[in-house]
Amino acid sequence: MNDSNNLLELSAVARSYPEPAGRIPVLTSIDLAVNPGEWVAVTGPSGSGKTTLLNLIALLDTPDSGSIKLDGREIARLPENQAAELRSLQLGMIFQLHHLLPQCSALENVLLPTVPAKIDSETAMERARSLLCRIGLESRMNHFPGQLSGGECQRVAVARALINSPRLLLADEPTGALDLHATDALLELLAGFHRDGMTILMVTHSERAAAAAQRRYVLSDGKLAQTL
Ligand SMILES: Nc1ncnc2c1ncn2[C@@H]1O[C@H](COP(=O)(O)OP(=O)(O)OP(=O)(O)O)[C@@H](O)[C@H]1O
Ligand SMILES: [Mg+2]
Repeated sequence: MNDSNNLLELSAVARSYPEPAGRIPVLTSIDLAVNPGEWVAVTGPSGSGKTTLLNLIALLDTPDSGSIKLDGREIARLPENQAAELRSLQLGMIFQLHHLLPQCSALENVLLPTVPAKIDSETAMERARSLLCRIGLESRMNHFPGQLSGGECQRVAVARALINSPRLLLADEPTGALDLHATDALLELLAGFHRDGMTILMVTHSERAAAAAQRRYVLSDGKLAQTL
């Protein structure tokens, strides 16, 4: 049951890391709400905890305390098999460095998440080809990451994150390694998926990328503050 209309809701989320001198708090009390269809950006300096925050939402990490809800369902402390299923079926993640498998072609990289999602291979292939066409890589489907530019690899990573039609797309510095031209091309691509109704939570230290979002937060001192 979801009392609010939020797709994603974080309340008082905290995460610290153990250090020899004691635990270092990174996120102290994070409150965040994302509505369906919104594009929200979180900015903050290097080391402020942006990747830490996204990893918690992607269920790649567990908070020390606090609540993370997707569609009103508490997801922060699911058993690993349920977390893996939710990650594969409901969440799409674009990593800070795209993390494509170098030994797989662009098409194979996009198809990878369809295996645990048990999508039949014909449907998966059709979807992967159509996504690669949409992102302008129809002529490079069978190229390997080493044969693609940084911007092209990042676009493949977008297609891979979207192949299972996730409810929420999580993007960690998607333009971090890109020049101005490739940054604008990637933001235009995300804007197109957003216009089609995709919910996006993007963390970035790029003002340019953040300006493309509808709503913005700044992460500092372990907390999020909404900016206008
Ligand atoms: N596994 C870990 N163990 C200990 N400390 C960690 C760990 N992961 C991150 N940190 C520390 O937590 C802080 C936040 O790191 P995080 O990667 O979330 O920052 P970020 O905002 O994503 O930075 P960037 O903009 O450089 O990507 C940093 O001080 C980092 O050193
Ligand atoms: Mg980071």
